[in-house]
Amino acid sequence: MAVLQIIRSLFVPTESVEPEIIVPAPATTYTIHPLTEKHLKEVMRVNLRCFKKGENYTKHTFSYLLNEPTTLSYRVSTPNNQIVGFIFVMTSQGTGHITTIGVAPEHRRRGLAQKMLQRIEESLRKREIATVSLEVRVSNLAAQSLYRGLGYIIVQRLNNYYNNGEDAFLMVKSLY
Ligand SMILES: CC(C)(COP(=O)(O)OP(=O)(O)OC[C@H]1O[C@@H](n2cnc3c(N)ncnc32)[C@H](O)[C@@H]1OP(=O)(O)O)[C@@H](O)C(=O)NCCC(=O)NCCS
Repeated sequence: MAVLQIIRSLFVPTESVEPEIIVPAPATTYTIHPLTEKHLKEVMRVNLRCFKKGENYTKHTFSYLLNEPTTLSYRVSTPNNQIVGFIFVMTSQGTGHITTIGVAPEHRRRGLAQKMLQRIEESLRKREIATVSLEVRVSNLAAQSLYRGLGYIIVQRLNNYYNNGEDAFLMVKSLY
């Protein structure tokens, strides 16, 4: 479970943001491509809109993940190259571990998270990685529903997993 400890250490408090009014974005097309260091600032912006204070990663953490060869990461972009979604997966010893995923609020419920997770699964299979896992807050019913719909199952409850004392569910999916 060393990877779980690494992931826990990635959560560092950051500045809070004002609540925003969400207006769904006009219908558009989306593409998924790998993330690189040059996307750091934009990913940070989307991240701050996806997670509350204390739940989001720092710039340092994203920079580390973007430069770590065993980490896979993708972005969802609009035709004008605006990043509206991101996903990061760490690979180690034949498993993939989703560390974070987010979609900008005005682009949600359009299947973008589902598509990013499917892209990650393709990449992991190409690397002959047989399982993928993640942690999700017990209160995050939206994300749990997303993962369940893609075949992830809860295998363990991790007590007091997050900085605020909240428990996590460890969810796992076999890729074969
Ligand atoms: C969770 C999150 C990534 C989902 O992104 P998304 O692009 O809106 O998800 P999708 O459109 O691919 O949803 C696929 C399915 O997941 C489920 N789902 C997604 N959001 C849901 C919600 N708010 N409530 C209930 N089910 C939801 C639904 O079954 C959905 O299918 P449907 O729209 O046909 O009903 C997005 O809400 C988000 O960024 N949340 C904040 C960050 C976060 O919680 N990340 C996960 C940390 S573990």
